[in-house]
Amino acid sequence: MKNQLFYGDNLENFRKFIKDESVDLCYIDPPFNSKRNYNQIYNNLGKEDKAQAQAFIDTWTWNLRAAEGLLEITQTQTQLYTAQSVKLIAGLEQILGQSPLLAYLVSMTQRINEIYRVLKSNGSFYLHCDPTASHYLKLVCDAIFCTQGGEFRNEIIWAYSGGGRPKDDFARKHDTIFRYSKNKTPIFNSDDVRVPYNLDVEKYTSPKSWGSHKGSEKIYAPNELGKIPEDWWLISPINSQSKERLGYPTQKPEALLERIIKASSNEGDVVLDCYCGCGTSIAVAERLKRNWIGIDITYQSISLILKRLEDSFGNDFTKDLVDKDSQEIIRPARLKLSGVPQDFDSAVNLANKKDDRLRKEFEKWFVLTFANNRAVINDKKGGDGGIDGTAFIHDFNEKNKEELKQVIFSVKSNKTLSPNVIRDLNGTMEREKAVLGYLLTLYPMPNLVKEAAKHGVYQSKMFGHSYPKIEVISVQEMFEGKRMNLPTKEVLKSAERKIINENEKLF
Ligand SMILES: C[S@@+](CC[C@H](N)C(=O)[O-])C[C@H]1O[C@@H](n2cnc3c(N)ncnc32)[C@H](O)[C@@H]1O
Repeated sequence: MKNQLFYGDNLENFRKFIKDESVDLCYIDPPFNSKRNYNQIYNNLGKEDKAQAQAFIDTWTWNLRAAEGLLEITQTQTQLYTAQSVKLIAGLEQILGQSPLLAYLVSMTQRINEIYRVLKSNGSFYLHCDPTASHYLKLVCDAIFCTQGGEFRNEIIWAYSGGGRPKDDFARKHDTIFRYSKNKTPIFNSDDVRVPYNLDVEKYTSPKSWGSHKGSEKIYAPNELGKIPEDWWLISPINSQSKERLGYPTQKPEALLERIIKASSNEGDVVLDCYCGCGTSIAVAERLKRNWIGIDITYQSISLILKRLEDSFGNDFTKDLVDKDSQEIIRPARLKLSGVPQDFDSAVNLANKKDDRLRKEFEKWFVLTFANNRAVINDKKGGDGGIDGTAFIHDFNEKNKEELKQVIFSVKSNKTLSPNVIRDLNGTMEREKAVLGYLLTLYPMPNLVKEAAKHGVYQSKMFGHSYPKIEVISVQEMFEGKRMNLPTKEVLKSAERKIINENEKLF
């Protein structure tokens, strides 16, 4: 099976592409209904507060999508949901009203129901959440899993410290991970996740006395591989010092995913994460030789995951590795990418997508793809003079000192544009002291190409090369391979290189 990465809403992708009983393990870390939005931080650009862009939103409203979801669940004729799920959501509507929280729970019910469908009979589901909605989510999972022969197996507490502390509350320093199984005998590789005994606390007798009773106390023999971990896990979170840190908000530590994937899947199995963020579960699944399916609704996540895979494991996962001389495929692409525009029509679709959960997805996709991921996304509403992204080119200043100079991107999806757009872009460049500007257009704009040429070239002192000061690039040209080709600074932190060669040690 080829690994698959889907760009889009997971519910749509489940229904279109993911077959019944095709997944061994599903881990999800969805938005927690935290009522806030999360920003991507560009680690490589000095002060963090200067370079951020919204990565995903976690604010919910009762809207048409929620109303349709509610109808789908409570309209029992669809037979998609268990009677208990139907009653649960109908009951919650009575208690919570048509509120943001109900919108969140309807959305989660629809998706967890699909997860149940696609799991194999001995498959496992791990739901990562926090106390904001964990009590409701457990009801949702019970109504889906436990009513159809599945089981609730664990409530895992992932405990950590660090970060801020309130003055008038106990510090909230744990997440909750519910573990469910689709049948009563799920995969559980206990020996792969054993940890050392804590010998100060846990006193064991010799193996001979295994299972015997001493007074009222049952005594167990130690296992030479260590013990199966308890249901509370002390694993360091990603903090500003972590080597793993990519700047993606809510990035989870690889050690956490490693334990889950090792315990509940085997090599060659299929691991699914349908809220995959910057791809922690995917990177760990790849390293542990599992197959994987990832889904995310934002292009920033998709581009980060592609970069993370390339940084960690080398090679472009989406392309066949071809022998230069014979042109034979040495290794076929290891990843099928779906939902990312590949032609003009799908680019038009993305530009016209109306989705309140997404902002400027077309602009983000265009800038990140054209800039080979070396641009900072600007998603401010208005007031930015039409700047959708910024890159930084190395050069010397007047005193021959090395300096980063700005390159700005402006994206337009209009069918017609007047030459004023170029003049405006030039004005914005002057204001921002940017040395180069790209106008990225959905439709070809020969009139603007002519206008742009009037602005001449920028001469790089460092590279002794000149570049057109303003360039107009259409989507079609980008599909034909045109990319930003400038000596720009890497704006994102690279993931650590992982060795996957059989003969080399992992870590
Ligand atoms: C908390 S983050 C996941 C972080 C991830 N565990 C990691 O370590 O990077 C949640 C992700 O879910 C994505 N998301 C939210 N709603 C979605 C939906 N309906 N379909 C697919 N992805 C969604 C967001 O874009 C975000 O990247």
